[in-house]
Amino acid sequence: MYNETDLDKINLDMEPPAGEPDRQYYFMAKCRRSLRELEERAGRSFTFSVQTFGCQMNARDSEKLAGILETVGYVRADSEEADLVLYNTCTVRENANNKVWGRLGYLNGSRKRNPYKKIVLCGCMMQEPEVIEKLKKSYPFVNLVFGTHNIYKFAELLSASFEQQGMLIDIWKDTDKIVEDLPVERKYFFKSGVNIMFGCNNFCSYCIVPYVRGRERSRKPEDILREIEQLAEDGVVEVMLLGQNVNSYGKNLKEPLTFAELLRKIEQIEKIKRIRFMTSHPKDLSDELIEVMGKSKKICKHLHLPLQSGSSRILKEMNRHYDKEKYLALVDKLRSAVPDLALTTDIIVGFPGETEEDFQETLDVVRRVGYESAFTFIYSRRTGTPAASMERQVPEAVVKDRFERLLKEVQETAAQKAGALTGATEPVLVEEVNEQDQTLVTGRLSNNFVVHLPGTGELVGRIVNVKLKECKGFYFYGEMVESFSEPAV
Ligand code: 5AD
Ligand code: SF4
Repeated sequence: MYNETDLDKINLDMEPPAGEPDRQYYFMAKCRRSLRELEERAGRSFTFSVQTFGCQMNARDSEKLAGILETVGYVRADSEEADLVLYNTCTVRENANNKVWGRLGYLNGSRKRNPYKKIVLCGCMMQEPEVIEKLKKSYPFVNLVFGTHNIYKFAELLSASFEQQGMLIDIWKDTDKIVEDLPVERKYFFKSGVNIMFGCNNFCSYCIVPYVRGRERSRKPEDILREIEQLAEDGVVEVMLLGQNVNSYGKNLKEPLTFAELLRKIEQIEKIKRIRFMTSHPKDLSDELIEVMGKSKKICKHLHLPLQSGSSRILKEMNRHYDKEKYLALVDKLRSAVPDLALTTDIIVGFPGETEEDFQETLDVVRRVGYESAFTFIYSRRTGTPAASMERQVPEAVVKDRFERLLKEVQETAAQKAGALTGATEPVLVEEVNEQDQTLVTGRLSNNFVVHLPGTGELVGRIVNVKLKECKGFYFYGEMVESFSEPAV
C-alpha cells in the first residue's frame, strides 16, 4: 500500500501506469498537485463532504471515495458548503432520486457563493440514461458524474475534471473488474463493512438493482481474508460482509467456494469477534450456512431475510423463486438450528395486482415469523423493470392504508420480541457516545437491538456485558454489569 510520502515521490512527468491500483495512485498524486495550486490561489485549505444515499454497499463505497479525497489532501467538513460535495446516489425507489434533485437545487446556490466549488455525482442513480439527460439539460453546473462500475477510477476522473471546464461524464454499462487496495477512510475504528461480492443476477421483477449494479461477481477469498486480517490489526472487532445476495457468493469464482466456507475461514481470524452479513436471499440460503450459523461463536444472532410479500402468487410475479410455505419452512429450520436468532426483513406493499387477500397473506407471515424488525416499503415503479409495465397498479390510497396496517403489525410484533429480552444480560458492542445525552453510550446486541447505557467515550469499540433494564419498543436502556472484561460474544 502507498503512504503519504510515496505519493509525493510519484513522477508526474511520466505516462500514467497501465495497471491498477498504481494508475489510481498516480492520479491521486496529480489531483494533489492541482489541489495545492488551487489552495495557494485561494489562500486556504479545501474541504469535502461525501453524502450517502441508500444501502450499506453505498456507505462502504463512500468510505472508499472519502479515502481517496483525504489522500488527495481535502479536509473533511460534512457540510454542503464544502469545496467539493459528492453525492453517492441510490435509485432503488423514486423518492431516493427525488431527494437528490431537491438537494442539487440548493447546491447550485452554494456554488454561486464559492467559485472553487466542485459538485460530484456517482452511484446507482447515475446508471439511468434519463437521469444523465436531465442533468445535462437542467443541471449543467455539476462538474463530474460517474456510475457504479468505474467507481475505482474516481482519482483519474477527478484529475481530468481539474483540467477541463463543464460537466465530465463517464458511465459504463457493466464491468467484470474488481480493483483492490485503494485507500479507505472508515467511519468507525472498531467495525467495518467488507464487500464480498458486487452486482446481482436475480432480476426480481420490481427491482432496478441488477440493471444499475451489473452482473454478480465475487471477490477472491484471499483478497477478502487479507482485508479482514488487516482490519483486525487496525482494531476492527466486527465485520459486516456485504453483497446484494451473499448466499450466492463464490459461484462464479475460478475455484468456487460457498459463502458458508468463506464464513468458516473468517471465523478463524482471532481478533474478529463479531461477524454480520447482508443481504440473504431466501432462495439460496443453504443447509450448510444454517449449520455454520448454529455452531459459530462469532456470527451474530441476526439474519436479514427479505420476505417482500407473503402471497405465493405475488412472489411468483416478483420472480422470487420461493413461496409462502417454503419461506416459513426455512424460518422454522433456522429457528431450531440457531436459538435466539433475530430475524429482520424487507416487505413491499402495493406490488401490481396485490389484492386484499394477498396482503392478508403478508400479514399472516409477519404474525407467524414474529420479526424483530422490518423495513416496509411502498412499491415504487422503476422504469425498465418488468413490474413497471404490469397492469393493475394498486391505487395510492389503498397502498397507503395497507402500509399503515402493516407498519402497526410489524411494530407490535417487534415490541413483543424486544420485551421478552428485558432483564437479560447480553454482550454489547459500544458504538458511540449518545448524541442527545452525553452521559450515555449506545451499542448493539448480537441480535442487532440497540441499547443505551451510562458510560463514557472510553467504552466505544469495546464489547461489554449489559443488563437490559427497560425495553422502549425497539431499543433498550441498560447498565453495564462488569467493567472492561472481554465477555463471550
Ligand atoms: N419498490 C419498493 N421497494 C423496493 N425494493 C427494491 N425495489 C423496490 C421497488 N421498486 C426494496 C426491497 C429490497 C429493498 C432493498 O428495497 O424490499 O429488499
Ligand atoms: Fe433487487 Fe432482488 Fe437483486 Fe435484491 S435480489 S438486489 S431485490 S433483484
